[in-house]
Amino acid sequence: MAEVKIAPSVLASNFGKLAEEIQAVDQAGCDWIHLDVMDGHFVPNLTFGPPIIQSVRSATDKVFDAHLMVSNPDRLLEIYQKAGADIITVHAEVCEHLDRTLTQIRELGCRAGVSLNPHTSEDCLRYVLDRLDLVLVMSVNPGFGGQSFIPTVVDKIARIRDMLGGRDVDIEVDGGITPETAPSVVAAGATALVAGSAVFKGGSIDAYRDNIEAIRNAARNQ
Ligand code: DX5
Ligand code: ZN
Repeated sequence: MAEVKIAPSVLASNFGKLAEEIQAVDQAGCDWIHLDVMDGHFVPNLTFGPPIIQSVRSATDKVFDAHLMVSNPDRLLEIYQKAGADIITVHAEVCEHLDRTLTQIRELGCRAGVSLNPHTSEDCLRYVLDRLDLVLVMSVNPGFGGQSFIPTVVDKIARIRDMLGGRDVDIEVDGGITPETAPSVVAAGATALVAGSAVFKGGSIDAYRDNIEAIRNAARNQ
C-alpha cells in the first residue's frame, strides 16, 4: 500500500508568517499543504483567498491542496488555479451542478475534489465517480480547527472506498486527526490526512517534524 499523504492545514499556523510556516512544514517532511478557504457564509469563519495563496506559492514546491469552504465556488475556479492550487476541492452541499464543476476543475489542469460534511451522505458521489480525483471526508463540522473527531465517519470512509472500486482516487480526511485517530481512518481506506493543530504545535521545524512523524507512524501501524 502506498504511503499515506500528510497535509498540514495552515489554519493552525501563524498567519503573520504564513510563508515561513509553509516552508517549515515542507522541511519537516509533509506531503501536501492544505489551504482552508472560508467565506464567512458557507462556514461561520473567514480565512483567505486567491491573493494570499498566490503570495505564498513560491514558498514551496509541495502540492497546494485548496479546500474551498465557500458558497459559490464555480465562479472563482480559474482564479484559484491561477493562484497556484494543484487540487481544488469543493463542497457537495453547495454544488448544484457537481458534474460540471468537477469537469471544469479538471479542464483547468487541477485535480478535482469533493468534500462531504459529516452529515452528508456519500450517495451524491455515485454518478461522478469518474470525474473525481479526491474525496475529502470531513470528520468535524467545517469552520474551525481544534475540534474533536466524529467517529461515525469511519464507516463512511469504508463505504466510499467500496464505491470507488479500483479507481485511483484519494480519500482525504479532515478534522481532529491525531496519532490516536489516524489509524482507524487509514484502515477504512483513507490515503491522505489533513492535520492542523496536531502538526502546528510546538512552533518549530523540529516539533513539526516530530508531529508529522507521529501521525505517519500511527498510520503505518494501523
Ligand atoms: C476545518 C478545516 C480543517 C482544520 C483541521 O474546517 O477544514 O482543515 O484546519 O484542523 P484540526 O486538524 O485542528 O482539526
Ligand atoms: Zn480543510
